[in-house]
Amino acid sequence: MKAESSKGPRGTFSNFGFLMASVGSAVGLGNLWKFPYLTGTNGGGIFVLIYLCILLTVGFACILGEMTIGRFTKLNPIGAYRKIAKKYTFAGVIGVVVAFLIVTYYNIIGGWILKYFFSYVIGQSKVLSTNSEAFFGEFITSPLEPIIWTLVFILINLFILKAGVIRGIERAAKFMMPLLFILLIVTAIRSVTLPGAMDGVRFFLKPDLSELSMSTVSAALGQVFFSLSLGMGITITYGSYLSDTANLEKNAVMVPLFDTAAAILSGFAILPAVFAFGFDPSEGPGLIFVTLPSVFGSMPGGFLFGALFFLLVLFAAITSSLSLLEVPTSYLIDNRNWDRKKAVYVLSIIIFLISIPESLSNGVWQTKFFGMAFFDFVGYIAEAVLMPLCGLMMCIVIGYVWGTDKAAAEIKNNGLMPFKSEMYWKILIKYIAPVLIFGIWLNSTGLLDLLGIK
Ligand code: TRP
Repeated sequence: MKAESSKGPRGTFSNFGFLMASVGSAVGLGNLWKFPYLTGTNGGGIFVLIYLCILLTVGFACILGEMTIGRFTKLNPIGAYRKIAKKYTFAGVIGVVVAFLIVTYYNIIGGWILKYFFSYVIGQSKVLSTNSEAFFGEFITSPLEPIIWTLVFILINLFILKAGVIRGIERAAKFMMPLLFILLIVTAIRSVTLPGAMDGVRFFLKPDLSELSMSTVSAALGQVFFSLSLGMGITITYGSYLSDTANLEKNAVMVPLFDTAAAILSGFAILPAVFAFGFDPSEGPGLIFVTLPSVFGSMPGGFLFGALFFLLVLFAAITSSLSLLEVPTSYLIDNRNWDRKKAVYVLSIIIFLISIPESLSNGVWQTKFFGMAFFDFVGYIAEAVLMPLCGLMMCIVIGYVWGTDKAAAEIKNNGLMPFKSEMYWKILIKYIAPVLIFGIWLNSTGLLDLLGIK
């Protein structure tokens, strides 16, 4: 979430500031909304297990890789690839497209969060908790209302950018994010102690091998990239603001650690309650909206707690959507010489226009694209097709064009910093991560089926 153009002199983050900014970008709807519902639709504990395996291999390799490219080149993603591997400049462009596509539906979910926050504020907590499934279903399938909330969410983002209060938002993040963690912990405790919750805990933690499938693995890879904000250049951008004395390896451990903690806590807040209240864990994107109001309804002062909780989720969503928007914005500024104001306004309008059919496809607009509603189809193109491709290119650039030795020299700051996992990382980024990503990508794009391999 940096306002400066990357052409000008680059400010550098303090080490703590970098960690907080990266955690702020990483922790968002991916952790709070997406992780629990994907766990629910992908067989529970087995998804969590595979998620963790991919996180420790591909996730760690890629986040460290992106940070390193960023700090070495001190450039935006496109400039960065142009500098170290000219032929791979398109990898940066893919990243820009991914961020742009994701923000079109991220804002829709942001709008849903806004609606829930607002409903708590105006005292509808009873309605929300007594008939939560019907309430949610009616809301997202109605043609107009979700679009209006999406627009409000976009306008809030615009207002923050226009009023130049980004710094204020960054400062607020320093207490809002810790507060979010505290509320997550309280909610998780309530959820786990509900009668009947243990089935949910078991579902969440105990991997059922019979649920293992390629689609679970694909979903886990996509979620690792989405949640760590990988495969769209944002971590290259953050890395470009890092000082030469920052410990890249440590950051590449800490960011995923906090990010995963948030996701796991959200899982504990939601999945046990799903079983306690008899909801369907494979409900999909509505899981958090259907479940949490019931949890809050079972707490004393739950309406206040619910309002505060959705406010904090809203905050996390806004910090993430702002940095997502920053990816295409800085592309237009740096590479197309647009001015910032024009870039932000034009992008916001286009993003809003695309979000309209996306939102309608949850309800009245039934046209299918390769069997998917438009909302899911855009997500598929961004997350299953383009995002892993961008990550794969990054591994190839580091492993075979720039070279792992040069990258490691950057990480070690020419011998001044320790790099304990050097061997592990080199093997990961050169062999393991690209092979895994490519294999999963072939599967999730459907190419394996097309080639008749399955
Ligand atoms: N990681 C964010 C989340 O979990 C979403 C995200 C994806 C993001 N790419 C990003 C945020 C780029 C900021 C910048 O919700």
